[in-house]
Amino acid sequence: MPKKMHLGWFMNYAPPQWLNPFDRVNSSWANADFHIEMAKMLEGACFDYLMIEDTLMVSDAFGKSSEAALKHALQVPKLDATVLAGAVAKATTKLGVIATASILSYPPFTLARMIASLDHLSDGRFGWNIVTSGEEQAAHNVGLDTLPPRQQRYDMADEFVEVVTKLLASWDEDAVVMDRETGTFVDHTKVHEVNFVGKFYKSRGPLNVPRTPQGRPVYLQAGGSPRGRQFAAETADSIVAIAEGIDGMIEYRADIRGRAQAAGRNPDDIKVMFLVTPVLGDTAEDAEAKRYKMVNTDAFITSQLGMISTVTDIDFSQFPLDEVLPPLTTNGEQGSLNKFMQAGSGKTVRELATTATGFASCLPLVGTPADVAAKMTDAMEAVGGDGFLLTTPLQHLSRRYVTDITEGLVPALRDLGVVRESYEYDTLRENLLAF
Ligand SMILES: Cc1cc2nc3c(=O)[nH]c(=O)nc-3n(C[C@H](O)[C@H](O)[C@H](O)COP(=O)(O)O)c2cc1C
Repeated sequence: MPKKMHLGWFMNYAPPQWLNPFDRVNSSWANADFHIEMAKMLEGACFDYLMIEDTLMVSDAFGKSSEAALKHALQVPKLDATVLAGAVAKATTKLGVIATASILSYPPFTLARMIASLDHLSDGRFGWNIVTSGEEQAAHNVGLDTLPPRQQRYDMADEFVEVVTKLLASWDEDAVVMDRETGTFVDHTKVHEVNFVGKFYKSRGPLNVPRTPQGRPVYLQAGGSPRGRQFAAETADSIVAIAEGIDGMIEYRADIRGRAQAAGRNPDDIKVMFLVTPVLGDTAEDAEAKRYKMVNTDAFITSQLGMISTVTDIDFSQFPLDEVLPPLTTNGEQGSLNKFMQAGSGKTVRELATTATGFASCLPLVGTPADVAAKMTDAMEAVGGDGFLLTTPLQHLSRRYVTDITEGLVPALRDLGVVRESYEYDTLRENLLAF
């Protein structure tokens, strides 16, 4: 029997495709109907989780103006990921639901309470995507004068997660007794202060939410720099990874597993999920024509450049489209920048922006469902695990796209015996650890 792979979906709570004649949504996208329907489709296909991405700004990184972001609905409008997670949780029964929440925008107590509540609401299917925010503008929006440098953000994240984890453990598992004879709801001897005093954060505790169904929600992380990987290896149950091709995926996973082992963790407890953006067609030619049409538009190129500007705080409008990029570094998403630049490839900015199906995709997956399923299976065999996080090429989320995956690709993966056909368990962590 081949080893099974995990499947997740990386999604924004933002408008789906609205311009194509077959993919139109109207303003109802904001009431979550679209996203809930999509979550149900993913649950039907037995995905491990839906991960809801988030950022905290209307970006003006591209061309020093918010025009590109607003015109192309690039990361904006975007509604609160944790609110959507609650709605999705109540509309599903097995699918894991992961929401992004930045350590910059909450005190640890408030965040711990929020994620504990969501773990209860979902009966143990909630996960927190731990981000530090990597954009100057996000920092300004939450009242900081400047974005702390990466090293410090991750130092803050280490401490933030430590206090959150302690707060989540401040109620013993058997603290809620609901003893009708003595009229005792909670045994107060089983609820403990935390009294955390760190360099960046303080919290007295205990939390005012009982121990959650998973003990603590699943932790997800997405950081590509060495410091980000270290944080992920010490902290995360699952990781959003971007890497260049199979060699990059092998290197990434081996690096994470090595760091986890060195930190005293079992590497098998961390599921590394590689981001991919498949494009499917009835034939290979049909899929390639679809891909070509998606990426070769001025709107797509501007969107790609707007997106990479947003996450790196580098204004990509300054670089001529038909020239090669100079070397660049960022205090924002270094991993995304490296992946976008493909240093040494000699590609022009235009070529980078239209590469395959988007810069975030670890592998070019364009073809029939059977071809793409075979490529994914081969990649997992070479890399050793653990799964894929699917997402759409920028601006192309639609019912049609999701149906291609859930009714084309997933059945093809099932034919190969490499994905689950029913959920093994009721909680997200158990399903992640099932194989
Ligand atoms: C694939 C991917 C997805 C990410 N998703 C988010 C997100 O939803 N919200 C956010 O604020 N940051 C997000 N980040 C940023 C990371 O959490 C991290 O802050 C950033 O990558 C900087 O760290 P690094 O240089 O270690 O990569 C994402 C990063 C990557 C690579």
